Amino acid sequence: MNKVSLFGVIILLLWGCTEGRNNSSETINKWNDQPEMDHYIDSLMAKMSIDEKIGQTVLFASWWDITGPVSENNIVEDAKQGKVGAVFNALTADFIYRMQKEVVENSRLGIPLLFGYDVIHGYQTTFPTPFAMSASWDLQQIEKSCRVAAIEAAADGLNWTFAPMVDIARDPRWGRIAEGAGEDSYLGSLIAAAQVRGFQGDNLADEATVLACAKHFAAYGAAQAGRDYHTVDISERVLRDVYLPPFKAACDAGVSTYMTAFNELDGTPCSAHEHLLNDILKDQWGFDGFVVTDYTSIKEMVNHGSVADDKEAGEASINAGVDMDMQSGIFMNHLKQSIEEGKVKEGTVNEACRRILEMKYRLGLFEDPYRYCRPDEDKQSKIKSPEHFALAHEMAKKSIVLLKNEGGLLPLNKEQLNSIALIGPMTDEQKQQLGAWHTTGKPETVTTILTAFKEKLGKGTKIYTAKGCDWEGDDRSGFAEALAAAKKAEVVVMCMGERENMGGEAASRVHIDIPLIQKELIKEVYKTGKPIVLLLHNGRPLTITWENEHLPAIVECWHLGSMAGPAIADVVFGDYNPSGKLTATFPQHLGQVPIHYNMKNTGRPYNPKDDFTTRYQDCSNDPLYPFGYGLSYSSFEYSSITLDKTILEPAGNINATVLVTNTSGRDGEEVAQLYIRDLVGSVTRPVKELKGFEKLMIPAHKTVEVSFTIDAEDLAFWRKDMTFGAEEGRFQLFIGTNSDVEQSVMFELTESVDVDPYAAR
Ligand code: BGC
Repeated sequence: MNKVSLFGVIILLLWGCTEGRNNSSETINKWNDQPEMDHYIDSLMAKMSIDEKIGQTVLFASWWDITGPVSENNIVEDAKQGKVGAVFNALTADFIYRMQKEVVENSRLGIPLLFGYDVIHGYQTTFPTPFAMSASWDLQQIEKSCRVAAIEAAADGLNWTFAPMVDIARDPRWGRIAEGAGEDSYLGSLIAAAQVRGFQGDNLADEATVLACAKHFAAYGAAQAGRDYHTVDISERVLRDVYLPPFKAACDAGVSTYMTAFNELDGTPCSAHEHLLNDILKDQWGFDGFVVTDYTSIKEMVNHGSVADDKEAGEASINAGVDMDMQSGIFMNHLKQSIEEGKVKEGTVNEACRRILEMKYRLGLFEDPYRYCRPDEDKQSKIKSPEHFALAHEMAKKSIVLLKNEGGLLPLNKEQLNSIALIGPMTDEQKQQLGAWHTTGKPETVTTILTAFKEKLGKGTKIYTAKGCDWEGDDRSGFAEALAAAKKAEVVVMCMGERENMGGEAASRVHIDIPLIQKELIKEVYKTGKPIVLLLHNGRPLTITWENEHLPAIVECWHLGSMAGPAIADVVFGDYNPSGKLTATFPQHLGQVPIHYNMKNTGRPYNPKDDFTTRYQDCSNDPLYPFGYGLSYSSFEYSSITLDKTILEPAGNINATVLVTNTSGRDGEEVAQLYIRDLVGSVTRPVKELKGFEKLMIPAHKTVEVSFTIDAEDLAFWRKDMTFGAEEGRFQLFIGTNSDVEQSVMFELTESVDVDPYAAR
C-alpha cells in the first residue's frame, strides 16, 4: 500500500488521491459453488436437444424488425427454433423487448437471449476514448465512466458489452491503440480491473450492470508493422510478461466473458488457440465465464490457412475452448455434423452451452427475461442525465495532457484577452470529438471547442474562427481566411489532428503525423509570428517533432467525447490545472517504432562516443515524449529517495519514500511514478518497469510525502525456465515524474522467491 502524508497544516483528506498499487477490491468472480444455479441449469439442459444446445453458442448481429426480417438472416425465427442464443447490435429497450418477447414466448424452452453491443466509452453520454481516459491515471474516475456506460446501456435493454479492450499496444501505427490503455502492462492491468468493476458492478443481476468482455485474447496489439489483423509472432515469455497481465487482471476482477482476437499467434489463429483458451484462460486462470469469437474469425481461419473449410474451422475453434460463435454461422451450420462424425465431443458443446446459460442465469434473465429491456421511464431518464454529463466533463478534463508550455503561455487569461483566433477542422466539430468506436454516441451531445470558448469568454474578447482546411486532402482554399483570422488575433489556438476514424479498427497508418495539409496550415500560421497554442486531437501517439520545436504550447486533447469543448476550455483558460500523463511513448520519428519505455538495454547500450552502439545515424534513440510524461501549470520537485532498508528478505518488504513539493503558487496534481530495474536476470530484464504510482493533489508551496512498499512478488517475472518468481540480486528503484526519471537507489533481494502466477490478485 502506498502512504501519502502532507507536511504542514493541510489535511490531505480534503484533496483527491488515487491509489495506483494493489487492487484491493474484492473479486466478483463468484459463480463457483452455486448449487441453486447448478440445479437450475442441470434441469434445463436435461430438457434441451443437441440442436438447442448448439443454438446457445450462436450469436448474430440484429437485422430484424417486428414486421419481419430485414435481411436474409432471420435471427428471430431461428431463435424461436432454439438455433440462436444471443444477439448483438440490437438497439433500444423497446426493440429489444419486442425481440425478447417474441423469442421467449414462442420458443420451446423460452430461453432468453443475451443482447450485446460495443459500449466502449460511454453509451449516449460519450466519454473520452479509452486511450485518452488512461492518461488520467485515475482508476476511480475510469471505473465511474464505465459505470455510467453500463447504467445507460442497461437502461436501453443491453446486458453485455464488448469491452474493455485490454490489449497492450506498443505500435502507434495500429489504430486500435485508441481503444486500450496504452503500452504498459502494470497500468493496463489496474485499468482493466477498474473497467470490469465499472461495467459489472458488484452484482450481475443488478439491472444497472452488464456483462463485460475482455478483448481481444490475445496479443492483438502486437500485429506486425502495426497493420490491423496482421500476423503476431512473439515469444511465450513476452506473451506472459507483457500481453497477458491485463487479461489476467480482468479475470481476477470477475470479468464474465472474453473475446478472441483476429490474429494468429505462433502460427495458430487465436479463435482456435487451445494453449491460450483451454490451457491458460480456463485451466490455469480458472475462468468460468464464456469465450466468444471476434466477429467472423472462425470463418477467417480458412484464409489464415490453418484449416481447409468452414466445418474444420468450427471444430478447431470449439475444441480449443471457444464457447460462442459471433456472426460466422459455422457452429449453427456445422457443429451437429461434427459431433456425429466424432470430431467434436458432445460434452464440449454441453460445456459451452452451460457456460453461456450460467451467464444468463447470473444476469437474472431466467427470473425475468425482460429485466433489462422492459420499458422503464425512470431508467431511461438516466440516459444522458446531467450527472452523467458532469462525470464525462470530469473525465475529459483529467484525460488532457499538457505537452509543452513555453514561457507559461498557458493558461490564457480570459480577463485580459482582447482577441483570439480559433483555427482548424476540430474548431466547431461535434462528430469527430466522439472518437473511434463511439457507436451509439450522438454528435448533438457534443459541446464543441468554439461553443465552449464562447461561453467561457465574455463579450470583451473577440473570437475569430476559420476552419482553414479539412482533415486531409489538398484543398488550400481556406488558408487565406485562417491566416487573416490569425493576423487579427492576439493568440491563435489551432484545433488539429486526426479524424475519429483515423483511429480504431482497420485504421492503421504509416504516417503517424498530423496529416500533411493541416501541417502545412500550421506552418503558414506560424509564419505570422503569433503565439500558437496547438490543441491536438488524435487516437494514437503522433510524431509532432516539428510542432514541438516551433510552437510554444501543445495540449493533447485526444477525442474527448460529449464534454470535449468545456474540458478543453477549462484547461486553456486555467479553470482546471492539467494532470494527465501519457500512457504510450510519442516517438520523434516513425522509424523509431516500436519504441516503448520498458525496452531492453542490449549488449551495446547507446554511447555518444562510440558509433558501434545501438543507435540510428539520423535520429537519437530518445522519444519525443516518454511514457508517463505530462506537464502541469504547477511545478513539482522531487527530493532524493529514502529506503527504510536496502536488503529485501523473501517475506519482507521495503518502503521507498520521496517528498514531492509543489514549488508553484498554484494547487496542482502530480502522478508520482515508481519504476524498478532488475539488474541481472536469468533472462534479460527491461531497463525500467512501472511498479506503482500515486496521483497526488499538492497545494501551492506545499510538500507531500509519498511512500511505496515493494515486496518480492512485485519483482516476479517469467524466468528462464518459464517458472514465475523473483530472482535474488540487485535492483535499481526510481521515483519521479515520468519514465525518463534518472534518480534512483539500490536494494538487494537476498533469495529468489517463487510466486504463484495463477493466484488471484
Ligand atoms: C471488433 C470487436 C467488436 C466486434 C463486434 C469486431 O470487428 O474487432 O472489437 O467487439 O467487431 O462489433
